[in-house]
Amino acid sequence: MDWGMRNRLSKLIQRDGRALFIPIDHGYFQGPTRKLEKPGETIKPLLPYADAIMLTRGILRNCIDPTVDKPIILRVSGGTSMARRAELDQEGQITSVREAIRLNACAVSMSIFVGAPGEHQTLLNFARLVDECEDYGIPAMAVTAVGAELEKRDARYLALASRIAAELGARVVKTYYCEEGFEKVVDGCPVPIVIAGGPKVDSELEVFNWVYDAIQKGAIGVNLGRNIWQHDYPVAMAKAIRAIIHENATPKEAQQVFEETKRATTSG
Ligand code: R5P
Repeated sequence: MDWGMRNRLSKLIQRDGRALFIPIDHGYFQGPTRKLEKPGETIKPLLPYADAIMLTRGILRNCIDPTVDKPIILRVSGGTSMARRAELDQEGQITSVREAIRLNACAVSMSIFVGAPGEHQTLLNFARLVDECEDYGIPAMAVTAVGAELEKRDARYLALASRIAAELGARVVKTYYCEEGFEKVVDGCPVPIVIAGGPKVDSELEVFNWVYDAIQKGAIGVNLGRNIWQHDYPVAMAKAIRAIIHENATPKEAQQVFEETKRATTSG
């Protein structure tokens, strides 16, 4: 592997082999998502706990201070919106690799929609992106997307989508967690896997359980957005999840980190 690629990957995946990415790219098809109306303000207090942040070029240029010292994962696919839900799988490439280099991105990310009408188009888009990224030593992260079909997220589907992403040349695969058979997803995918959270759930312990179990089964970390920044105590969530990923905390220990940070925030 070339030096540039290795260098960028080492900024994303930490020395312990783990990673905590915080995405704030949701507006690229959802518009002003709840608690992400002002993405720069949402992410600012969370930056100390993130190993990298994922976002589009528009939010990067307009909402993030260029002196930021966090690696940027630039989302380069899109072109669809929630206003046409049935066509969410029809994404194309919306940002060039040249622009990613101009913005000093550490990696780029693109969605693939396995099993949807847009499967062929998005897989070819991703393969072309990998070809270009490899020329410049930029890791391409595949996002195994399901659009509005959240029920698709079982081990069989996630293993299929993740393996295909790896076969096409992804350096990192972002997929979802599933309670049953997640180890099959990891075992069948020869590149590092991070998990997304999906829509916010009610209990923080549920999130800690997912993250902990995913790590036990071989994921290297998370690319977790709404279950951190839509929570009433986002910093407490980020710190607790960081403890699971980088300090091997159990869900119970993570809950303690959460409660302590929440108390400090409330009393401060
Ligand atoms: C979709 O909006 C993006 O790819 C997100 O970055 C991804 O789904 C992870 O965010 P969340 O944990 O909110 O699902």
